[in-house]
Amino acid sequence: MIKGSFPIQKFENIQTPFYFYDTELLNKTLACIKQESGKYNYKIHYAIKANANETILDIIKQEGLGVDCVSGGEIKAALKAGFHSNDIVFAGVGKADWEIELALNADIFCFNVESTAELEIIDQIAKRLNKTAKVALRINPNVDAHTHSYITTGLNENKFGINLEQLQETIQLINRLDNISLIGLHFHIGSQITDMSPFQDLCIKINDIQADLKKTGITVSHINVGGGLGINYQHPNHIPMADFETYFKVFHEYLHLESWQTLHFELGRSVVAPCGSLITKVLYIKEGTTKRFAIVDAGMTDLIRPALYGAYHHIENISSDKDFEKYDIVGPICESSDTFAKDYFLNETHRGDLLAIRSAGAYGEIMASKYNLRELPKSFFL
Ligand code: LLP
Repeated sequence: MIKGSFPIQKFENIQTPFYFYDTELLNKTLACIKQESGKYNYKIHYAIKANANETILDIIKQEGLGVDCVSGGEIKAALKAGFHSNDIVFAGVGKADWEIELALNADIFCFNVESTAELEIIDQIAKRLNKTAKVALRINPNVDAHTHSYITTGLNENKFGINLEQLQETIQLINRLDNISLIGLHFHIGSQITDMSPFQDLCIKINDIQADLKKTGITVSHINVGGGLGINYQHPNHIPMADFETYFKVFHEYLHLESWQTLHFELGRSVVAPCGSLITKVLYIKEGTTKRFAIVDAGMTDLIRPALYGAYHHIENISSDKDFEKYDIVGPICESSDTFAKDYFLNETHRGDLLAIRSAGAYGEIMASKYNLRELPKSFFL
């Protein structure tokens, strides 16, 4: 089996667990995104929620991407990293007043608005600050993304977005609000989507919505289709990059845009997931009655995805070339869900070996917690 290449000698002096980021892969990924989206002049916002590590942000900023934020903290981090405020979009079902004020004062590009209640508050705050808030309406297209139920967002039963039946009344409200300017429509159907057909369905839905709106004289200058492009978690060494070419082509082929309309994306996982690995040391091999456990020093506090979503991450013993043996790979946290993998084949493993938990660059470090009063994982770059 091919393994990832890791500078294992350099790892010896670093306190585990830590995140290792392959900046060469990140740069290659960004170059590919630029090339493929550039074919159609699409505008890409990096979904900063996936990873806000300062070095990662610096690399992404240099490539000229915008940012998609979902909190005041993320807007501050984006501005601090040097992203231009006019490249920032701000989404989220529960924007607090101070966050709206911060975004208005920073003159961000656009609010992605999720309800009429929110529109009224943004209007009030904008009036007080003597500003006009540019908004895109986040519409719930009721498209099934066929992904994990915790990360599907585009169904009517989800808390996100404005349902289609409420669109006309929302637009009528906007017409009555003096400090709101409608400039776009926003969509996001879910995350880790590898089958392109939900994106095709989304395009067709958007075409219908735009055609209906046009009949009532409403047009917007941009469409934002959110993020969601998945990566291959099973084979990080063979398929280290998401299929950006096919993804952007789907939108080019299926979505009808006017010549003056721009298309925006909010990609998170596909940008950063492949470049990150969580490196952890084996503390003990514990022989159970039916199982053999590899107990490692990383836990669900460092990478919560397996515990929270039952997510699969490819794991390699980067210190061993011996024959494969079966292990449950578990962390030290006092929760049974603190398990990275069950019945998993690793090269024969011993105390002190280093394991690489792959494809952890997105929703890994950023979701770390201090539960059990553990320290947050550090990061290391190459
Ligand atoms: N835009 C909006 C409105 C979103 O809600 C999200 C992700 C994105 C863009 C970026 O989606 P991406 O390209 O990364 O799929 N913690 C979960 C994923 C949560 C995704 C939340 N929203 C995980 O570890 O799988």
